[in-house]
Amino acid sequence: MKGLVLSGGTGTRLQPFTWSTPKQLIPVANRPLLSFILWALQKVGIAQAGIITGDEGLERIPHKLEGQIPPALELTYIRQVGPLGLAHAVKTAHSFLGEDDFMMVLGDNIFDLSLGEAVAVFKQTGADALLFLTPVDDPQRYGIAEVRDGQILSLVEKPVTPRSNLAIMGIYLLSKAIFPAIDRTRPSARGELEITDALQELLNMGGKIVPYLYRGWWLDVGKPEDVLAANRKMLDLLLGTVPADNCSVGLSSSVTDSTLRGPLIIGEGCRITNAILGPYCAIGRGSVIENARIMESVVCEDVEICNLEAQLYKSIIAENARIQGQSEGGANVRLLLGAGSSIIL
Ligand code: G1P
Repeated sequence: MKGLVLSGGTGTRLQPFTWSTPKQLIPVANRPLLSFILWALQKVGIAQAGIITGDEGLERIPHKLEGQIPPALELTYIRQVGPLGLAHAVKTAHSFLGEDDFMMVLGDNIFDLSLGEAVAVFKQTGADALLFLTPVDDPQRYGIAEVRDGQILSLVEKPVTPRSNLAIMGIYLLSKAIFPAIDRTRPSARGELEITDALQELLNMGGKIVPYLYRGWWLDVGKPEDVLAANRKMLDLLLGTVPADNCSVGLSSSVTDSTLRGPLIIGEGCRITNAILGPYCAIGRGSVIENARIMESVVCEDVEICNLEAQLYKSIIAENARIQGQSEGGANVRLLLGAGSSIIL
């Protein structure tokens, strides 16, 4: 079985961060989103994975993933001409995938459980496709599966009047049977070749699609709130919740006259002085925090935050931004700052 990670899309709801970085590279617990997926693929024994992306991704992803790729995973980058839909991406990857079964994961999805059980079900049932499903409160936002007695009856992309609340997560187990189904699929109203429509075609053609109810935590990271939620969850998962044991500080970083409240991660080469950090902070490599208080925030690489009277909370500060405090006092502040921003508070 091969892996296929889709890393296209424009990420408009995550601007300003996506002006400078593809959303799949936004850091969560100091690691790009994509790296969590790559480790999950390796965990189910996948040794070869393709990352499908546009020109911008091809330029940035390989560099950002350096040191974050599981050693036993061989990566191949595949260029997609434009954001023409998930089924178009699969079609683009056809020569890489060949005749093999594959696990496809959308690069902005993050989850906490191993995918191994589903792989076993897919193999045992000899299905053409297996879909990860999970109940959601807002089914209009997702591909939705109508399931009765363990059988999938219909699959509809972002239905106006949903027939169920079971969302198709961005994790799919597929076989080569998907290719002729994609060939029969026409572009949707938003002009994309939807994988949900291709799967409905596969159903129409008599293909066997197995529903798999995922029981873990899952998020399709689309908004700043999702980045913060994913950061909290992954810090809990990676570092645990035992106080005194859940602060990870990069070896070449210095922490002076400061209080660290876990879960918290500080990358390499940071200088932290007279600060109160955490809980739920991720501070990227090379950042300087001086005379400041920060909680529940993602601070990217090479950021400077100095002399801040107000406490920063639920903030995302992109790489190379600078925040300088000048005024006295001040309530808590929440900032979503793009790369290279400079702000005086
Ligand atoms: C895509 C799929 C949708 C699926 C969702 C899960 O939607 O088209 O079927 O439910 O991912 O993350 P998008 O995020 O592109 O709107």
